[in-house]
Amino acid sequence: MTRLPFKICLSLLLLLAGCSVSPTKAEWVSLAATPEGSDWPLLRSPHAVDPAMEQRIAEIVAGMSLEQKVGQITQPEIRYITPDEVRQYYIGSVLNGGGSWPGMDKGASVEDWAALSSRYYLASMSTDMAVQIPVIWGTDAVHGHNNVAGATLFPHNIGLGAANDPALIERIGRATARQVRATGITWVFAPTLAVSENRRWGRTYESYSSDPGIVARYADAMVRGLQGDLDGDGDVVATAKHFMGDGGTFDGIDQGETRATRQEMITRHGAGYYAALGAGVQTVMVSYNSWNDVQAGENHGKMHGDRELLSDVLRGRLGFDGLVVSDWNGIDQVPGCTKDHCAAAINAGIDMIMVPEDWKAFISNTVADVQAGRISTARLDEAVTRILRVKMRSGLFERAPSASLYNGRADALLAGALAREAVRQSVVLLKNENGVLPLAHDRRILVVGASADSLSNQTGGWTLTWGGTENTNADFRGGTTLLGALRRGLGSENVVYSIDAAGIDVSAFDTVIAVLGETPYAEYNGDVRAPAPVQHSLSYPADLAVLQAVSGRGVPVVTVLYSGRPAYANDLINLSDAFVAAFLPGTEGDGLADVLLSGPFDFTGRLSFVWPGSACSTGEGPGNAVQFPRGYGLSYASSRTNGALPVPVTPAACEMATP
Ligand code: GLC
Repeated sequence: MTRLPFKICLSLLLLLAGCSVSPTKAEWVSLAATPEGSDWPLLRSPHAVDPAMEQRIAEIVAGMSLEQKVGQITQPEIRYITPDEVRQYYIGSVLNGGGSWPGMDKGASVEDWAALSSRYYLASMSTDMAVQIPVIWGTDAVHGHNNVAGATLFPHNIGLGAANDPALIERIGRATARQVRATGITWVFAPTLAVSENRRWGRTYESYSSDPGIVARYADAMVRGLQGDLDGDGDVVATAKHFMGDGGTFDGIDQGETRATRQEMITRHGAGYYAALGAGVQTVMVSYNSWNDVQAGENHGKMHGDRELLSDVLRGRLGFDGLVVSDWNGIDQVPGCTKDHCAAAINAGIDMIMVPEDWKAFISNTVADVQAGRISTARLDEAVTRILRVKMRSGLFERAPSASLYNGRADALLAGALAREAVRQSVVLLKNENGVLPLAHDRRILVVGASADSLSNQTGGWTLTWGGTENTNADFRGGTTLLGALRRGLGSENVVYSIDAAGIDVSAFDTVIAVLGETPYAEYNGDVRAPAPVQHSLSYPADLAVLQAVSGRGVPVVTVLYSGRPAYANDLINLSDAFVAAFLPGTEGDGLADVLLSGPFDFTGRLSFVWPGSACSTGEGPGNAVQFPRGYGLSYASSRTNGALPVPVTPAACEMATP
């Protein structure tokens, strides 16, 4: 088999996926994919085998009882397990889900988080085992440490993709790792490496791009940013997720069926993983979706039970030597399994089971499976070995999480300047008639729209709570809405806010800024299920109404739209003189004001997804109307008159895709 330099092969592989890419920095692999992408690359881990470490692990595993091993592969959620139960049941890991905080207090301080982490750690080190094994705590810090009040939150991935700046991503990873270590946590369930294809999907905003090349470059950068040297005070273990094909499900149905060919899986959905593995990612989270290669007549079924991909490919071909973790009750979706019992998932290659609530039943069922031979001792030992390897590589055996210099430090949660820079780079100017933007600082402006003063709409899902819902601005303990930023930039006396422009004489102002947006959601709650049209003004009629109230009054209207997906909005764009796709920019509204107001910053963002030209256009394939292509974005100088965009009649129901 010809082993070609990594760069050549990765470029080949990704060029086949219809994207141009400069390869990642990784030099360690020889990628032996056949040029047409007909086989999985042959990679090897960048982490050299450490014989002394492996020997130490083997000795520890040899001295563990069956119950201790099964406890080690079990990951409960903090609402459902006490520190003393971690000790009693030899638990290897805990997680906090979105909307779960110490003492279930959304306002828990960084000290509260660090204190709870210490209690879990000390409990795990107080068992009756021959060798104590420290517990590891995982959390979804997917746009900064988004569970923690007071943490600076970055733009979600859909916006970061528009920045197309891997160096920025690596810096965000570093800052996020420090935020997480401040709370005593050492494992982050990020980056998401979905190559999202259908904007109906509720998790589109967690995807960097529909271009595998951008995803690959960012995978490398984010993993390096988060993991650093793996065992430093500001380092965390990263997670490549969700393996594999989460962004390619039929009709964008979350946790649905990905009907990709083998070549598409290899060249599109796998692209981020080769780069993440090249950067040394230590954990991989399994995806809820299933894979059905319809063209080949091969239905591989749910990923959580797919031995070929989880073992033969991920371990065999791709050389992954870290741990594989299931998703939240993901084993429940494997045929014949329940959320507390699934030998098939463990035999397929999953090493750690995320079983938030029913962990006691899982332990007893899995002990019984091993005793009955349904799970071999060798497979269990292999899973425990991988978990211990990740813990040792990340320094957890040598130093308690609380030993980090960032532990308990509230200032480590802050990264306002970096986030503000990321906002500037992640917003895209789609229209700027007659050079309306940038706005001079002597403008007297009217701000309208429900999203203008809403940190919730500005930050989106995975924010303080799982869905980003049930939050008020006060819950954020920091952050600046766009309204606040404009007041700061122009002087409060020059900014009037009216959510719906009722009773306002628009002509009394120099400019109107309309801030529109989706309300937050996460996962399947964000799906827009076929055949419903996907059109912002249909889902948010108040946004259309407020724009109609201020447009055509002889005063320029600048519209800013917060959305977790490329939005069909030609009707809104036609009512605007300038239009900014801001996606989900996070807590630093000042970054938006930086590019709306005159000053040193211009728009540089370029779409990392196509922008649809009709309400039933959901992706890039045939039959989809594209209003703006991937890579589109204006700056002040490149502004030109678009004229009115077409607004085709939106049907009550879109044609159903071929099932
Ligand atoms: C969720 C998500 C996954 C997340 C996990 C833990 O269901 O699919 O991305 O890491 O559960 O919160």
